[in-house]
Amino acid sequence: MSEWNHRHLIDLSHFSLEDYFSVLQLASRFKSLPTTGARKLPALQGRLVTTLFFEPSTRTRSSFELAAKRLSADVQTFSPSSSALKKGETPLDTALTYVSMGSDVLVIRHSCTSVPEQIAQALEKNGKPTSVLNGGDGLHSHPSQGLLDLFTLANYFEPNNPLPSALVNKRIAIVGDILHSRVARSNLWALTGCGADVILCGPPSLLPREFSQFVDAPPPGQSKDPIDIRGKIYLTRSLKNALEGADAVITLRLQKERMQHNLLTDLNRYHRDYGITHQSLNWCEKQIPVLHPGPVNRGVEISSELLDDHSICLIEKQVSNGIPIRMALLYLLTTSKDRLSNSTADALSSP
Ligand code: NCD
Repeated sequence: MSEWNHRHLIDLSHFSLEDYFSVLQLASRFKSLPTTGARKLPALQGRLVTTLFFEPSTRTRSSFELAAKRLSADVQTFSPSSSALKKGETPLDTALTYVSMGSDVLVIRHSCTSVPEQIAQALEKNGKPTSVLNGGDGLHSHPSQGLLDLFTLANYFEPNNPLPSALVNKRIAIVGDILHSRVARSNLWALTGCGADVILCGPPSLLPREFSQFVDAPPPGQSKDPIDIRGKIYLTRSLKNALEGADAVITLRLQKERMQHNLLTDLNRYHRDYGITHQSLNWCEKQIPVLHPGPVNRGVEISSELLDDHSICLIEKQVSNGIPIRMALLYLLTTSKDRLSNSTADALSSP
């Protein structure tokens, strides 16, 4: 496996092709191993993983906790409603409290963009070795979801070799509320990074034109893109155009809780224009898989019938693939930390 040198995982814009390769290769190994009961892997024995979710979650939090347990780590769960947040404690002071208890990895979700990054920077400044793994921040980034979607697609296209190369020259449609989706942003980095073209589709209020330039420049503060040649991004308002020629489609939840203005007035019309159904899939040139990160608004972005049709809809596979992907991320972050501190120890002991 190639060198992994990330202490934190905040955003996939920092990922190289080797990083995608490392995560997918390790996730495939974890997926193929029996990891339950007495056959749990001892890899993270004695380590402490803390899930700090300041925003609701079903899938992501439980998946991280299960991943940590399958690697024999101890797991601490923070629940905001019964915590000292209610007494005015800040997210940073909450995080530092868990660091003082010896946490090795903090998995952080927050409704505000950049909270996980700010906590990671504060830990670096204070010389704390704890890693931060972004479990979703505001509209910005949801790297583990981007990676599990990549893994699910790689498994679909190349079941015997589910690596980044499986995505080369594929055409992936992402449909719906792209404006409010941190999943779509992480998918854009991951899919184009592995050589797929992405076609974005949605109404103007949920898909601003600027998204076609999303990966053209690295984000502020990042000097260069670690990927030499990315897939392209196209934008269309027509679902028919998006689906014709697509190899897979990812549909997204309408995030009503993040819509400050009435961006949509008619949900029936939205379903008619952008809902993924058995009928709309007739526009595709072949049978393609449908992905959705969940949770789902049944009958809005996807029909209930299609959601329950597991020969097409891969949502169950996405959930189960989330576990080996998160095992891989926890493992890589923890062992990279060991490598970094070993090299510091070597440097200190060398004459
Ligand atoms: C997503 C999220 O929280 O960003 N869900 C998830 O993590 N599986 C998408 C969403 O909330 O719609």
